[in-house]
Amino acid sequence: MCCIGMMNTMKTQEIILASRPQGMPGKSNFEFKESQIPQVNEGEVLLKGLYYSVDPYMRGRMSDAKSYVPPFKVGEPIKGGVVAEVLESRDPRFKVGDKVQALLPWKENMVAKADHLQKIDDSIAPASYYLGILGMPGLTAYFGLLDIGNPRKGETVVVSGAAGAVGTVVGQIAKIKGCRVVGIAGSDEKIEMLKSEFGFDAAINYNTTDNIKQAISEACPNGVDVYYDNVGGPISDAVLANINFQSRIIICGQIALYNATEVPVGPRVQPVLLTKSALMKGFIVGDYTDRFSEGANQLAQWIQSDQLKFQETIIDGFDKLPEAFIGLFHGENKGKMIVKA
Ligand SMILES: NC(=O)c1ccc[n+]([C@@H]2O[C@H](COP(=O)([O-])OP(=O)(O)OC[C@H]3O[C@@H](n4cnc5c(N)ncnc54)[C@H](OP(=O)(O)O)[C@@H]3O)[C@@H](O)[C@H]2O)c1
Repeated sequence: MCCIGMMNTMKTQEIILASRPQGMPGKSNFEFKESQIPQVNEGEVLLKGLYYSVDPYMRGRMSDAKSYVPPFKVGEPIKGGVVAEVLESRDPRFKVGDKVQALLPWKENMVAKADHLQKIDDSIAPASYYLGILGMPGLTAYFGLLDIGNPRKGETVVVSGAAGAVGTVVGQIAKIKGCRVVGIAGSDEKIEMLKSEFGFDAAINYNTTDNIKQAISEACPNGVDVYYDNVGGPISDAVLANINFQSRIIICGQIALYNATEVPVGPRVQPVLLTKSALMKGFIVGDYTDRFSEGANQLAQWIQSDQLKFQETIIDGFDKLPEAFIGLFHGENKGKMIVKA
């Protein structure tokens, strides 16, 4: 444990945004720096990062375009989901050794306001799960699928980005609801995992399938009732060509477009939505903040009853954060991409 008097001399490694990417992000957009750890004041705690989340939405924050979260500032640390351990506390709600989760800077050690921290219970599930199935991605899967998709027993649900943090949970919840589930992902290994470990009824490797529209039609003999869209682009064009009357399309992510330098042109979706009386709705998980405890409790219950499994790709070393993040855009993760300090 560190003592308060020593804080002024303690240093930590941090990762800052060195420059804004043009197109695909690269390592040169990040820079490692050493910085001073400030004194721990009343209502604050000193933390040591254990697990760091890298998420596709962070690409948006690296640009300076206006969005639902403000952009990262050049020269300042990147911020993301972190599970950390309390090393010193000056707040009665936290004691040394507690594990917490919060949006925190990419620093090995940091001082944080206690008000911003959420204590986690690693007896329910491993601590890293609070960045995945029991955290933001799990809640995204839960609310997007159930609230917007409203999947009914016997319907067909298609999910793109199926082998990732959100997609693996979407597919399993759809199975719990009694649906036929078809996933789309980028490698044979992922396709095998979706079918054998996560119970998907069929899965399509978009990198090796020439005619995705036809492959979806074959995998979905009764058409597509719910499409959970994590990727956008040509994959989604192919799914939309197979949607049913009164289908629901959940726009969760558009990772295929996050590095685009020009607005891409695709088929116009309005005619198919019109003629199929279909619903297409975008959402941000933060729309459901006041229902997070409902979602987290249900996900924890499904994990404890073995109805939900979770996959993680854990990369060792704080210094690997930039490449783990970049790896998301090259499909290097199965399930949730996490960096372990
Ligand atoms: N709306 C919200 O509040 C919210 C919250 C969380 C996440 N999201 C979005 O949901 C999506 C999934 O997030 P996640 O955390 O679960 O990420 P993830 O799926 O764990 O990781 C990203 C995956 O996307 C796939 N991918 C990368 N580039 C692609 C491309 N050009 N075309 C098709 N697939 C590509 C890769 O898998 P393959 O090998 O299969 O290509 C990669 O493994 C993202 O778009 C994210 O931004 C939205």
